[in-house]
Amino acid sequence: MKIAVSGKGGAGKTTVAAGLVYLLARDGYTVYAVDADPDATLGLTLGFPPAELARVTPLVELKEVIQEKSGGSGAYFNLNPDVDDVIAAYSLSRGNIRLMLMGGVKQGGSACYCRENSFLNAVLNTLLDKQEAVVLDMSAGIEHLTRGTAQGVDLIIVVAEPTRAGVKTAGLVCKLARELGIAGIKVLGNKIRREEEKEFIRRHLPGETIAGFLPYADKVWERSMEEQLTGFGAGDLPAGLEEVYVHILREEMKGKK
Ligand SMILES: Nc1ncnc2c1ncn2[C@@H]1O[C@H](COP(=O)(O)OP(=O)(O)O)[C@@H](O)[C@H]1O
Ligand SMILES: [Mg+2]
Repeated sequence: MKIAVSGKGGAGKTTVAAGLVYLLARDGYTVYAVDADPDATLGLTLGFPPAELARVTPLVELKEVIQEKSGGSGAYFNLNPDVDDVIAAYSLSRGNIRLMLMGGVKQGGSACYCRENSFLNAVLNTLLDKQEAVVLDMSAGIEHLTRGTAQGVDLIIVVAEPTRAGVKTAGLVCKLARELGIAGIKVLGNKIRREEEKEFIRRHLPGETIAGFLPYADKVWERSMEEQLTGFGAGDLPAGLEEVYVHILREEMKGKK
């Protein structure tokens, strides 16, 4: 199962991604938890110790590795290097979870970041080709995905808060995801306090499939202030996420038959 999570900043992408990583790992899958948001917080949310996280270099910053993998300094470089060793060397393991940080992808301007981009592409393609589960915690821009890598993603979950900005961004992400050709696109309403807010999301995202709604929970909010997290447990799951997860897995099984 390969799931990408996107949506507006603050909507709850990392909260949802961490919950899905926890559930998949609990159910016995090896899960690659990929922090593809330059504003990286997935590791912290999963309760990895900050000191350990500080030692992980985001992939895009591995200058020498990128140079070596892409083949020297000429104008031509290897578009599809073998990066399995990189994945092993630059991921943090805990139980069934393998955490990786992509870092900010650079674009445009005067410099060419083709090597960096094709290196990240190769890493993503390699992960998406694996048997193991992959959860990508993305920004709203989903800039790490290309038409090629999007084919490897089974489902993108677009997290939407019941605000004008929240549904606007969610709509744009759905459109982007459709253009990239991602197989499954589902909206997940988050931080819901009242029934009308569900209706608000449905009304502003007509034609989109809604995976469910998660209530606003003080417990979830307060966890983001804790300074001494020691992992992620069943009690840290946002209410309602497990139902969404079960539904997603069931649909996935149906699709594979
Ligand atoms: N269902 C929820 N109830 C309460 N707070 C939530 C909920 N979902 C997310 N939050 C809080 O909102 C903030 C932003 O969530 P986060 O997952 O970091 O968003 P994103 O990754 O989209 O920027 C965090 O403080 C998080 O604890
Ligand atoms: Mg985040």
